[in-house]
Amino acid sequence: MLPSELWRKMVEEEHAQSDARRGPEPPPADHWAPFAANFAADPRRSDDQLIGPLGRDLEPTDTLMDVGAGGGRHALPLALRCQQVVAVEPSPSMCAVLLQLTSAHSIKNVTIVQSTWEDAEVEPVDVVISCHVAYVVRDIAGFLRKMDAHARKMVRIILYPFSPQSEGFEIWERVHGDKRLSLPGLPQLLDVMEELKIPFESEPLSANHPRTYATPQQALEQTARRLYVQPGDPKMREIELAFEELLIEEDGGYRIKGAPVLVPHMVSWKPSTAR
Ligand SMILES: C[S@@+](CC[C@H](N)C(=O)[O-])C[C@H]1O[C@@H](n2cnc3c(N)ncnc32)[C@H](O)[C@@H]1O
Repeated sequence: MLPSELWRKMVEEEHAQSDARRGPEPPPADHWAPFAANFAADPRRSDDQLIGPLGRDLEPTDTLMDVGAGGGRHALPLALRCQQVVAVEPSPSMCAVLLQLTSAHSIKNVTIVQSTWEDAEVEPVDVVISCHVAYVVRDIAGFLRKMDAHARKMVRIILYPFSPQSEGFEIWERVHGDKRLSLPGLPQLLDVMEELKIPFESEPLSANHPRTYATPQQALEQTARRLYVQPGDPKMREIELAFEELLIEEDGGYRIKGAPVLVPHMVSWKPSTAR
């Protein structure tokens, strides 16, 4: 099986497991609605270790595209360093966060394209980036090739070695009894890059702290959503029981004990037109 076929299989099996847990209820129209606020960040913050590497080689006259820009965690700080940013983002709730932040911070050089990358009709730019998006993309080869075709200078992808949802895998197993399947991540991406014969560099960046929650209630609600457990379901009690052991208070917030420290990696390459 080719690495890109294995990638698709992993995405489809993980999604099938989610669908089975969701039951007859249709998937939400906007998966990100309950989580979009988590992706809002001050564009002028100085403590984000990913902005420097993502903006490496970015000239003030350059244009940049952020594929799956979310609430603009990366698109907005980078917009302050270059001429124009195109933020491609399909989720209406993420686009709303992005729009609210651009307006609140008077950032005027960001164009929002509300679309998936697969469907987006956009012009090439100097630098194309995509952070924590590829995990759920079925046609990873097409996704990467389109990024390559839309960049004049550089393409950069940030991914974790394994699913960002992995902090909840132990609770999934305790509550549902089966092993949570993982989405593909960095190792599988590197195999696909080899398959596509794209020369690349991969570098580890500063490790993220485990995800924290403001309150135990927020931790419970977001974990229940990720486990497809509805309020009133007796399995809610099982999550609460697991939390008695696994939810710990730290630095004024709450986190899940034993959650893996996720080290983001940046995979960079010169697009084929520049090689
Ligand atoms: C985990 S969030 C990351 C957002 C942002 N890149 C960040 O790092 O803060 C993943 C984002 O990818 C977007 N997304 C998912 N599939 C996509 C696709 N096929 N094309 C473009 N964006 C996609 C989602 O809507 C979501 O906003």
